[in-house]
Amino acid sequence: MATDDDGERDPLFRYDEPIFADEDLLRISHLPGPNRIVGRDEHMQKVAEALNPAIFGQEPTHLFIFGKTGTGKSLISRSVSKRVENEAEHEGVNVRTAFIDCGEQTTEASVIKTIGRELNDPNETGIKVPQRGLGTGDYYDRLWQIIDTCSDVVIVILDEIDMLEDDEVLRKLSRAGENRRVTDSTIGIIGISNKIDFPDELNERVKSSFAHDELVFPPYDAHQLVDILQNRADAFRDGVLSDDAVPLTAALAAQEHGDARKAIDILRNAGRIATKQEDEVVTEEHVYAAKEKTEADRFAELIEGAPTQAKAILLALTLLTENKPRDQFPTQQIYRQYQTIASDLDMDPLSERRVQEILQEQDFLNVINSETKGRGRGRGVHTKHRLLEEPEIVKKVLNRDSRIADLGI
Ligand SMILES: Nc1ncnc2c1ncn2[C@@H]1O[C@H](COP(=O)(O)OP(=O)(O)O)[C@@H](O)[C@H]1O
Ligand SMILES: [Mg+2]
Repeated sequence: MATDDDGERDPLFRYDEPIFADEDLLRISHLPGPNRIVGRDEHMQKVAEALNPAIFGQEPTHLFIFGKTGTGKSLISRSVSKRVENEAEHEGVNVRTAFIDCGEQTTEASVIKTIGRELNDPNETGIKVPQRGLGTGDYYDRLWQIIDTCSDVVIVILDEIDMLEDDEVLRKLSRAGENRRVTDSTIGIIGISNKIDFPDELNERVKSSFAHDELVFPPYDAHQLVDILQNRADAFRDGVLSDDAVPLTAALAAQEHGDARKAIDILRNAGRIATKQEDEVVTEEHVYAAKEKTEADRFAELIEGAPTQAKAILLALTLLTENKPRDQFPTQQIYRQYQTIASDLDMDPLSERRVQEILQEQDFLNVINSETKGRGRGRGVHTKHRLLEEPEIVKKVLNRDSRIADLGI
C-alpha cells in the first residue's frame, strides 16, 4: 500500500498548540456555563420569571426579547431554558426546548418541521418527521402529537423572528392549547429580534397577535465586555494574553455598540493570527489586525447572505462609485443602473420605491450611507447614497455570487 507509515508525523500539519488551551470556548455557538455569564443578572431573572411556571408543568408566559446583535439574547434564552429543564426534572416534569433560527427556517412549514424534528424521539412516539414530502398541515399534526407524547411543557425559541415570512406559525403555536391541538402539554414562546430601532410591519403584527412580556437587552459597555472576555481567558494558555489584549479588544468592540459577539470574534482571531505568526504572546498588534479581519469577514458574510436583488442594487451603486469615487448618488440614478443589471441577470426589476427601501434597510447601514433632503412624499427623489466600502472589495465579494460573476464585471 502507498502509505509511508514510518512513525513520522505528516509535515503538512502542525501538532503544537502554543496559544490556545481550549479554543472552543470562543466559538460563538458555544453555550457557556452560568458562571461564565456576566452582566445580565436582571435579564436572566426576567426570563426566569416568564419560564418559571414550566417547572411545575404550567404554561409559561410568552416573551419577546429585543436588542442589537451580540447583546446576549440567544445566549440568555438558551441558558435559562436549560436551567428550567434541569429544575423541572427534579419535579418530575418534562420540559423540552426547541431552538429555531428563523434566518434559516423562514417559512411556516420549515419552522414546524424543524421543531418537530428537534423534539421528536421516534422510539418513544413512533412518529417520523421526514425532511420533505409532507404538507404544512401534516407537519402540524405530527408536531402536536409529538408534543403531547414527549413533553409536559415545550419552550419554543424563535431566534431572528423578524426573518419569518409571515406570522401564521406564531398564531398557531400560541393558540395550540386554546384550540385543543395539544391537550397533555403546553407551549411557551420566546421570540427574539435584532430590529429594535426598526420595528417593521411584521414585527408589529407578530407582537399584537398574542399576549406576552417584552424585554430589551441594551449593548454592553467596555467594562462588561472586559468581564465577558476575562471569563473566557482560559481559552488561552497561561501567560499568552498580554495585559493589553483584553481591554483593547473590549474597547474596539464597544466602538459601534457593545457587541459581545464581535469582542469574542476579535479575541479569537487575535489568537489565531498570533498562532500563524508563531508568536508566543497575543499583543496589541494582533488585536488590531484581528479587528480588521473580523470586520472584513462580517462584511463578506453580510453581503453573501443577501438576496440577489439586493446584491444587484449594491452592484449598481458600486459601479457608479468606481467612476466617481466617494461621490454620492440619487436613488433615481442608482435605479437606472440597477435596471440594466437586472436585465443582464434576467431578473424582473423591482420598483424604484422598493429599491429605495432596500438601500435604506438596516442590513446595509454599514455598507451604504443614505442622506435625505426634504421630507414627505416622493422623498426618494431627494435621497442620496454613498458607498462606504472600497468598490474593489465590494466587487470581490459580490463576484462570489455565480450569477453576478457571470456578468464579468
Ligand atoms: N453576558 C454575557 N456573558 C458571557 N458571554 C456573553 C454574554 N453575552 C453574550 N455573550 C457571548 O457573546 C456571543 C454573542 O451573544 P448572543 O447571545 O449570540 O447575542 P445576540 O443573540 O444578542 O446577538 C455569544 O458567543 C455569547 O456566548
Ligand atoms: Mg442571536
